[in-house]
Amino acid sequence: MTNPSTAETRIGTERELDPSWWRQAAVYQIYPRSFADSDGDGIGDIRGITSRIPYLERLGVQAVWLSPFYPSALADGGYDVDDYRDVDPRLGTLEDFDAMVEALHRAGIRVIVDIVPNHTSHRHEWFREALASPKGSVARARYIFRDGLGHDGELPPSDWTSTFGGPAWEPVGDGQWYFHFFAKEQPDLNWNNPEVHADFLTTLRFWSDRGVDGFRIDVAHGLAKRLPDELPTQAELDALPKDGDHPLWDRDDVHGIYAEWRAVFNEYTPAKTAVAEAWVAADRRARYASAEGLGQAFNFDLLEADFEAGRFREIIAFNVELARQSGSSSTWVLSNHDVIRHATRYGLPPRGMSTTKAGADWLLSGGTSPVLDAAAGLRRARAASLLELALPGSAYLYQGEELGLHEVPDIPGASRQDPTFFRNPGVDIGRDGCRVPLPWTATGPSYGFGPGGAHLPQPGWFAASSVGAEDGDPGSTLTLYRTALALRTRLQGAETLKWLPSERDDVLAFERPGGWMSITNFGTMPLALPEGELLLSSVPLEGGLLPGEATAWLQR
Ligand code: NOJ
Repeated sequence: MTNPSTAETRIGTERELDPSWWRQAAVYQIYPRSFADSDGDGIGDIRGITSRIPYLERLGVQAVWLSPFYPSALADGGYDVDDYRDVDPRLGTLEDFDAMVEALHRAGIRVIVDIVPNHTSHRHEWFREALASPKGSVARARYIFRDGLGHDGELPPSDWTSTFGGPAWEPVGDGQWYFHFFAKEQPDLNWNNPEVHADFLTTLRFWSDRGVDGFRIDVAHGLAKRLPDELPTQAELDALPKDGDHPLWDRDDVHGIYAEWRAVFNEYTPAKTAVAEAWVAADRRARYASAEGLGQAFNFDLLEADFEAGRFREIIAFNVELARQSGSSSTWVLSNHDVIRHATRYGLPPRGMSTTKAGADWLLSGGTSPVLDAAAGLRRARAASLLELALPGSAYLYQGEELGLHEVPDIPGASRQDPTFFRNPGVDIGRDGCRVPLPWTATGPSYGFGPGGAHLPQPGWFAASSVGAEDGDPGSTLTLYRTALALRTRLQGAETLKWLPSERDDVLAFERPGGWMSITNFGTMPLALPEGELLLSSVPLEGGLLPGEATAWLQR
């Protein structure tokens, strides 16, 4: 089936060379191992993705972003890469990848792949060589090795803790230790080493030559490091400002790396795109998004906010202005593979300014405490998603959110995979709950994910949220996303927004060029809508009014 909205953007038409296709794209994140399994091994694969291209086309997205599909021990869901220029044999081959890219392009869908430059896997040939080589060797200089303290180096070089919990230094048995921001299976690369620079340029060209359209850069704010001879303590490190000269995070010199990458991106026509995953202060995001750098950066502000009008307004106004100043376009994210799904977040008690950890207690309790209001969560999620899709800039959608999927809280410990679960016993349950394989059908083995089961257990309630159950249901979240994405493609104009006045402070209303209006009622009192033709609403109007916790789109 062809979606008329994507037919317009079909690659192969005059739009093929449009260098700004990414500026207002709806990008769908595929977590390959949990998307669709073609061969029955319980792990999603490349052919599985290819088989679902009609679904993506019908959904109406302009691009997909694939989380890592490279050979990996899966110590961190594939963000521990053994080989940057190959496909995990469990997921397919390079030929399968090429066929997938070609088929996606035929469907008018661009392809973004994930690059993980901060660390390799401990199984990467460079790290194996480093372990087999002596202290001071060329092989060790590709990573961050330090002598341990104590008589024989038996103590770590510092008390630093890893982002995933536990120590950040791991001993290698000869008095030396290596540094890892994340799991110990993810040794950090030394970006002061020209060989590391050169190798990533080769990787970027490798995938660019295979036809990918852009890159998502993992931990983009962490690559450049400047470790002093005398290491500060963790407490001292935490107290240092992140103003561009912090030893580990968001250093100004990281942008030198991205200037080199930009030169490679610009070797292609149209230039390859990139989006930075940089968890930095909002006012430091612009440099990652600059035209001399990666070009775009994730804005996680909405993902960290409660469902609340004032906060949404502040975030939107700030980021639209930031994009205008930087020359990039805004990005919007409500869910991804690292956080609790937004349908669930919005059904839990509000958490104040930062909700990335919202629900940590709920997850720890196996989903029993506090009590989740699943229906309210979904209702608010539908309203927020519709609002997001009306904003200027790119919307990054995470697989399953178009089904209104909730987080799966009750995965038994024995089935869990996320290293953050293992490194923080009793404190952090990890991110597996948003990575459970997608339900494609209401019945059948693994709800249609694949013929051989699913690598994480799927709950019974997946049936009602499956593609099969929602397809053709005019009230389903899938139908809402399909309709919204088609309208968005048709209505999207210049990257501007004009706020519309409202007498209520729990209402957020704005207009896009061409008279496309989005009105969100964050409160519970029904709302009279302005004059205009109703295009779509996240719940049906009642007596001509927009009910509470709902969004409507109108055409003036
Ligand atoms: C960010 C990724 O999104 C996350 O899934 C991963 O665990 C870390 N980076 C480390 O690569």
